[in-house]
Amino acid sequence: MYRTARSGIQFSVRGPDFGILSVGTRTPVIDIVNLAKKYNGKRQVTALEDVSLHIAKGEMVSLMGPSGSGKSTLLNLIGALDKPTSGEIAIDGVRLSGLSDDELTRVRRDKIGFIFQFFNLLPSLSCEENVALPLHLRGWDRRKARERATELLDLVGLTRRTLHLPDELSGGERQRVAIARALSIYPPVLLADEPTGNLDTHTGAEILGLIRDLNSRLGATVLMVTHDREVAATCPRTITLRDGHIVEDLVRQPAL
Ligand SMILES: Nc1ncnc2c1ncn2[C@@H]1O[C@H](COP(=O)(O)OP(=O)(O)O)[C@@H](O)[C@H]1O
Ligand SMILES: [Mg+2]
Repeated sequence: MYRTARSGIQFSVRGPDFGILSVGTRTPVIDIVNLAKKYNGKRQVTALEDVSLHIAKGEMVSLMGPSGSGKSTLLNLIGALDKPTSGEIAIDGVRLSGLSDDELTRVRRDKIGFIFQFFNLLPSLSCEENVALPLHLRGWDRRKARERATELLDLVGLTRRTLHLPDELSGGERQRVAIARALSIYPPVLLADEPTGNLDTHTGAEILGLIRDLNSRLGATVLMVTHDREVAATCPRTITLRDGHIVEDLVRQPAL
């Protein structure tokens, strides 16, 4: 443990081997052991190797690393969008490896909110319909889903945009719709892959404030990819990947 003179913030640095210490007695909501992912194209690429990681409920963690280091691969595996080559992932106590495709779809639907760099909204649906979609998929009736969607759009400051199509919004507004959609089911895990990558600095700061607020107010566990060192430093914990390995897991503690 040491304290930097400049910021007065205390750091403790652990190697990947000591990852388990990060959560103490708190139950990990993301629990990863010896994860590997190889892509078999013309040329085999090892995107992740020997990654073990434990993230506790309510943590807000930033994920850094050069382009190609495996950040999106890791998020996609945690979000059950893709399957690992080996190793184990458990989300909220559920091991993904034993699940059928239908069960994986259910984990994605019930436990994970995903925010992408390119928003991924459906262009032919209004904001309200985009946000309500995950609720329809869960069998909510139309009126209840619409009520919840309206509430969430209020929460992200888009009360007056509910009937607009994504095309009619600015980048920042679209990302707010994507956040509202990711939160529609109050997922225990929120995964964000460069959520501010396509936004100007000011709008990016607003979106980050929103994500942070949702973490502190709704207790969502957040894992967020960012290239911005200052943004990463505002999270209590930062994990760095290089060539598919965790090379640093840094926990910041407020100075006493
Ligand atoms: N679908 C894919 N098929 C083949 N290789 C891939 C695929 N997705 C990613 N990769 C490779 O895996 C490595 C990690 O990629 P990625 O996880 O996207 O990195 P990052 O998000 O950190 O930039 C890179 O070498 C990339 O080219
Ligand atoms: Mg990426």
